[in-house]
Amino acid sequence: MNSENFSLIVHGGAWSIPDAAVADCRSGIHSSLEAGRKVLSHGGSALDAVEAAIVVLEEDITFDAGIGSHLNRDGRVQLDAIIMDAVTLKAGAVAAVERIKNPIRLARKLLESSSHMMLTGAGAELFAQESGIPLCDPSELIIERERTAWLRCREGNHESEFHFGHRHGTVGAVARDSRGRLAAGTSTGGTCCKFPGRIGDSPLIGCGCYADADAGAVSCTGHGEAIMKVVMAKSAVDLLRTGASAAAAATESVQLLARRTQSTGGLILIDREGHPAAWFNTPRMAYGYIEVDGSFRVLPE
Ligand code: GLY
Repeated sequence: MNSENFSLIVHGGAWSIPDAAVADCRSGIHSSLEAGRKVLSHGGSALDAVEAAIVVLEEDITFDAGIGSHLNRDGRVQLDAIIMDAVTLKAGAVAAVERIKNPIRLARKLLESSSHMMLTGAGAELFAQESGIPLCDPSELIIERERTAWLRCREGNHESEFHFGHRHGTVGAVARDSRGRLAAGTSTGGTCCKFPGRIGDSPLIGCGCYADADAGAVSCTGHGEAIMKVVMAKSAVDLLRTGASAAAAATESVQLLARRTQSTGGLILIDREGHPAAWFNTPRMAYGYIEVDGSFRVLPE
């Protein structure tokens, strides 16, 4: 927590980010922190800060979320997102949407104005229309870099160099506002060439995201099918609940992922006192947080 009494940490995915992509990742993380801090420093809520921080990352083609996401087997972008309020334990989640530019905004709308917690595909897009959130043409989410990567993946193996800079660039944010309220969110385009309709960990409560005012709030990144097996976000919150420090909860949750699934990933979290922490078992993770003195710490360096 900084001198202004709020906390913020954001991520843009854990994987082997090449040197040439580091500057873009850092720039995106910095912009996301600025958007979240603007909300929090004006007394805004943790939910508003998480939404604002993630919108910036969804609109940055560096990351695998929103525009610039990986294409599925059929050459379409299908997006997943979730946002969760630690006070009420209510989440809003959308999955496999193809006509939404900022799925985190749709997830927030679901959290605020529906008794449901998750909608998929056509139902989620109908909810968007009825809620006044505009639909885009699916082609607006596709960029040339990803179409090229998809074509090459279809010809051969899913080599990381086909996905320059963001092979696992799921994004997320966790905030604690000046009133002590916690929230977390996660947004992703999922894996390249995924089967149509495949949904990863990101929009699943407890897997890609969890937030409980009694303990803390978490956003995850990494191999979705593995993260689901260990319900990683809820595992981290449960460690905080039993008294683990923020750093220990982050580290032990990723160790659990590695030990039980032999897979890779990372997470960011904030405990109920406002301490941020991050851990990952990939070569690098793009993330950043606000230091105690109010400055930004942005990684990788
Ligand atoms: N962690 C993102 C996904 O697997 O879809």
